[in-house]
Amino acid sequence: MKTALTRAFVPLAAPPAPHIADAHAVIASGLLPKTGEAYTIQWLNTSHIPALLTLQHLAADQEIILRDTMYFGALFATGNAALGVFNQFGMMIGAATIRNKTAPMAAFCAALETSDQTIGTHSIFGTVMTHPDYRGNGLMGRMIDQWMIHARENGTENLHARLRTTNENSLKNFLRKDFKIVAEGPSPEDATRTVYFVHRTLGPQ
Ligand SMILES: CC(C)(COP(=O)(O)OP(=O)(O)OC[C@H]1O[C@@H](n2cnc3c(N)ncnc32)[C@H](O)[C@@H]1OP(=O)(O)O)[C@@H](O)C(=O)NCCC(=O)NCCS
Repeated sequence: MKTALTRAFVPLAAPPAPHIADAHAVIASGLLPKTGEAYTIQWLNTSHIPALLTLQHLAADQEIILRDTMYFGALFATGNAALGVFNQFGMMIGAATIRNKTAPMAAFCAALETSDQTIGTHSIFGTVMTHPDYRGNGLMGRMIDQWMIHARENGTENLHARLRTTNENSLKNFLRKDFKIVAEGPSPEDATRTVYFVHRTLGPQ
């Protein structure tokens, strides 16, 4: 006869299968310097939108303008891209969007209107975030590296981002990758935020 105790040991459900990385989408891999844990960087698609929203909920820290399902859906539908960093269990621990633009760039940064108007190819890095438990592993730098490789492959000449002037953890990553602050002012998306506009060019390799 089954007692309440023996019933309690009946497994309720099989443990979740470990995430198998989509081999086609993996663009880089490595070990986290802090723990040695393996990670992969992958191109994202619409199936990752729920994970992007979860990560954003955990990681935004008021430093990024919150995006919704429609925003990410439109991003993928219009030929733009996003990359994600995954831990060994398939959890998204970092992400960033990559939007390609053609001049004029005035809507992104008014100060670029005169300086960059004639140069045609631009890429904007945005919504970059690292899960709080995985910060300090250099993942933002790894994501910028992949963005630069992608941009170079596409013949993009200008790389842009904007960040709050108080966001030292983000700024140091852009400065380490030779970005320069080209302007400072209200964010075109939210005038209550004062942002730096950072930029660098990509020469042929
Ligand atoms: C900004 C952000 C993306 C940096 O990501 P990251 O992968 O941790 O980047 P790094 O590993 O290069 O760390 C950058 C700095 O964060 C700080 N840092 C290190 N460990 C940290 C931790 N556990 N928690 C918080 N900050 C930490 C350090 O000052 C580090 O600088 P260092 O490299 O000189 O030591 C991340 O802090 C984040 O998601 N912040 C909230 C969202 C945001 O600000 N996005 C950027 C919008 S422009």
